[in-house]
Amino acid sequence: MDLPPGPRAPALWQTVAWMSRPGAFLTRIHGRYGDPVTIRTYWTDEPMVLFSAPDAVREIFRLDPAIAPAGQSWEFLRPFAGPDSILLLDGEMHLRERRLMQAPFHGERMRAFTPIVAELARRELSTWSGRVIALERMRRLTIEIILRVVFGARSEQEVGQLRDAIEGTLAGVRSPSQVLAMALVRRDLGRRSPWGRFRVAVERFDALLLEIVARRRAEQLGGGRAGDSVLALLLEQREEQGNAPTDRHLRDQLVALLVGGHDSSAASLAWAFERLARHPAVHARLREGDPAYLDAIVKEVLRVRPALTIAPRRLLEPVRIAGRALPAGVHVAACLWLAQRREDLWPQAGAFRPERWLEGGAPTAVSWIPFGGGVRRCAGAPFAEMEMREVLRAAADLTIRPVRPEGERARRSMLVVVPHRGGELLIG
Ligand code: HEM
Repeated sequence: MDLPPGPRAPALWQTVAWMSRPGAFLTRIHGRYGDPVTIRTYWTDEPMVLFSAPDAVREIFRLDPAIAPAGQSWEFLRPFAGPDSILLLDGEMHLRERRLMQAPFHGERMRAFTPIVAELARRELSTWSGRVIALERMRRLTIEIILRVVFGARSEQEVGQLRDAIEGTLAGVRSPSQVLAMALVRRDLGRRSPWGRFRVAVERFDALLLEIVARRRAEQLGGGRAGDSVLALLLEQREEQGNAPTDRHLRDQLVALLVGGHDSSAASLAWAFERLARHPAVHARLREGDPAYLDAIVKEVLRVRPALTIAPRRLLEPVRIAGRALPAGVHVAACLWLAQRREDLWPQAGAFRPERWLEGGAPTAVSWIPFGGGVRRCAGAPFAEMEMREVLRAAADLTIRPVRPEGERARRSMLVVVPHRGGELLIG
C-alpha cells in the first residue's frame, strides 16, 4: 500500500529537523508535499502520516481506540507515567480513568481554584524586572501552581522538595540530545547513563509523591480540609465497585496531570509573552480589562503557537482516512500546528490577531484544536485556559518589550514546542 508522499531524507535528518525547527519543518513539508504528508522519525518505529484538513482531523478523532489506540504513542513514558496512567490506557479502562480524573476540572470545583492561581501569578510577575526569559519563569510558575493546586502542597518545604525532584526528573528528558540518546538506547547502562539517571530521579520523585498521598489521606480521614486541592478531590473518587483508589493509582494520576499540564502550559504562556511583547496594541487593549478580549488573546495564542504539534494514533488495522487507505502499523496524526494555520479556515493564518475571535465566525471543533479532540481531548483544558487568563490578567500592567524585534522561531523541548530563545523580554 502506498503511503502519501513525504520527504525522502533519512529518518535521522527528519528527526533532527522535527526537533530543532518543528514549525519550519512542518510548513516546508506541507508546502512541498501537501496534505496528507508522511514523515519518518526516530519517535516511531513506522512512518507517521500527518493530516490537517478538517474532515480528516474529525475522522482521526473519531477512530475506534481498539483500532487506533493513542496510549501506545506514549509508551516511552511508561517508566515515569506508571501502569495506571490515563496517558497509556485505551478503550474502556481509559474512559473509566477519564471519568475519575475530569471531575475536579469542571464547574464550581474548578472555579474555586481560580483565586489561588491568580495570587500565584501576581506574586511571580511582581518579581519581574529587566531581562526576563518567560519560559524559565513560566516553568517555575506552572510547577508551583500544579504543586499547590493539584498536589495540595502547603509548606514551602513540601513545595521545595517536590520542585527539586521534578526538575531532577525532567532535566534529563528536556534536552533533545538526551531524549535522542534515550530513544535510541532505552537500556539501563548504569546509574550514570542518561536512562539510569532518569530511573534514579523517578524513584526519588515517587517516594515523595507517595508520602504526599499518605499525608493527604491521613488528613482527610481526620476530617481535615476536604476539596482544597485536586488530589483531595481525587481521594474522594470511588470506582464502580465503590473502592477507593490505591496510593499507586493516585500517584499515576498526579504524574499524568503533571506531565500533561506542566510543560504544555509553560510553553503556551511563554508564547503568549513572546507574542504580546511584539504586539503593543494587543497589550494596550488587554489593559482595558475586557474579559472577552482576554479570552480572545488566550485562544489566539493557542491557535497560532500550539504547544503540542500533533495528536498521534497507531493503526492496528488498515483504515481509510479522508478516502486514503492506510495499512496497519503506521501512525496517523491530526497535525494541530498545520490545521490551525490553514489559510482557507483562518485568513492571514500566520498573523497574531485576537480580534478575529470577536469578529464572529467562530471556528468549528476541528479547526481550533490546541487541546486535541475526541475521547483523548486534553483532560485539563478548562484549567489550562483559566491559568493562562489569570497570568495574562496579572501581566496587563507590566511594560514588556522584546529584546530583539524579530519573532522567535519554534524549537522542541521534550514533547512541546517553545520559543527558541525562551521568550526573551525586557520589563519596564
Ligand atoms: C495550554 C496548555 C495545554 C495544552 C496546549 C494541552 C494540550 C493537550 C493535548 C493536545 C492533549 C492530547 C490530545 C490527544 O492526543 O488527542 C492533551 C492531553 C492531556 N492533557 Fe493537556 N494540555 C494543556 C494543559 C493541561 C493541563 C493544565 C492539564 C492538567 C492539569 C492537562 C492534562 C492532560 C491530560 C491528563 C491529558 C491526557 C488525556 C487523555 O489521554 O485522555 N493538560 N493535552
